[in-house]
Amino acid sequence: MRTTVGWQATGSGRALRRAPLRRRDLRADDLAVRVDYCGVCHTDLHAVESRDGAADEPLVPGHEFTGVVTATGSEVTRFTAGDPVAVGNIVDSCGACAMCRAGQENFCHSFPTLTYGGTDRHDGTSTQGAFSREYVVRDRFAYRLPEGLDPAAAAPLLCAGITVWEPLRALGVGPGTQVAVAGLGGLGHLAVKLAVALGAGTTVLSRSPGKAEDARRLGAHGFVVSSDPERMAEARGRFDVLIDTISAPHDLGPYLSLVAMDGTLSLLGHLGPVTVEALDLLVGRKKLSSAGSGGSPATAALLDFCAEHGITADIELLPSARVNDALDGLRRNEAHYRYVLDLSDLD
Ligand SMILES: NC(=O)c1ccc[n+]([C@@H]2O[C@H](COP(=O)([O-])OP(=O)(O)OC[C@H]3O[C@@H](n4cnc5c(N)ncnc54)[C@H](OP(=O)(O)O)[C@@H]3O)[C@@H](O)[C@H]2O)c1
Ligand SMILES: [Zn+2]
Ligand SMILES: [Zn+2]
Repeated sequence: MRTTVGWQATGSGRALRRAPLRRRDLRADDLAVRVDYCGVCHTDLHAVESRDGAADEPLVPGHEFTGVVTATGSEVTRFTAGDPVAVGNIVDSCGACAMCRAGQENFCHSFPTLTYGGTDRHDGTSTQGAFSREYVVRDRFAYRLPEGLDPAAAAPLLCAGITVWEPLRALGVGPGTQVAVAGLGGLGHLAVKLAVALGAGTTVLSRSPGKAEDARRLGAHGFVVSSDPERMAEARGRFDVLIDTISAPHDLGPYLSLVAMDGTLSLLGHLGPVTVEALDLLVGRKKLSSAGSGGSPATAALLDFCAEHGITADIELLPSARVNDALDGLRRNEAHYRYVLDLSDLD
């Protein structure tokens, strides 16, 4: 076993504490990665907050990170020590089902192995995330970090970025498309940058009027205060694609009313049960869809696109010892627009 250090929730406590961690010895197709930067995703906050008690397994969050390869397994050919890499929230999949063969490992029929809170397919141990100084990952799920992308600001591309990229691409977003992005947070601000770079007309729907200026700076062409019924009514039927990144349960009705005929609302944020009025879909033949994470070809394509267009997240970089401040800031909706932890303080 290899040993490292990370930030861990134990029992029902919500504060993460510094703790020693174990990583597996390298298998033939594994890489050891020194984690330099890891984004703080709202899913990390959901994971910490949904812990019920002492019986829960210790949790180390963190599933969008960049770093440097420090060692490789005997059969690894794509990477060598010293390579800059990026890893997201999938670290393994069956590799044999129709979804894996199609490069959609995120939809693996036997469920992909998640970066934390998953179960390793070989030894049955629980995966522990990247709020830690080292991660061991199967080579197929590590991506070369393109030159020119700042490694700290690129880390959020691996969850927030890919989660919005796949539906933007799958729904054909490009010149001539009108896109709305609901919720201007980690996912939302990257959805804006990517939709704009793809050539789409892009509008932000936000409850926070104070984010209007930021939305413009991010490239958005429009801004609608979602709590203002008059502004929402003016935007009725305007969007071919609505990317919903809102992190809390909410009524989809007002958002579906903004979708154009034959358009799609892609629900990415709150992933619990939803109630939909069928008439809200019937009128205009609208579609309700969802997505999550991305397959390996799409992830590689996203990194190339971001390198070509100079896209990274807008981040607030914190030493990892301030991880609990980052989670508090996210709880209070204060992130502009992604907290990223610098793990070098764990040395
Ligand atoms: N599908 C997937 O695979 C996937 C992947 C990653 C994350 N997620 C989920 O996506 C969601 C967003 O993650 P994130 O990291 O982008 O979070 P975030 O940075 O906290 O952003 C969420 C945004 O949602 C809006 N919002 C929050 N509470 C709201 C409420 N009660 N009513 C209306 N709007 C509200 C806020 O935007 P405004 O201030 O602009 O209104 C907030 O900035 C989370 O639920 C996360 O778990 C899903
Ligand atoms: Zn995430
Ligand atoms: Zn599979």
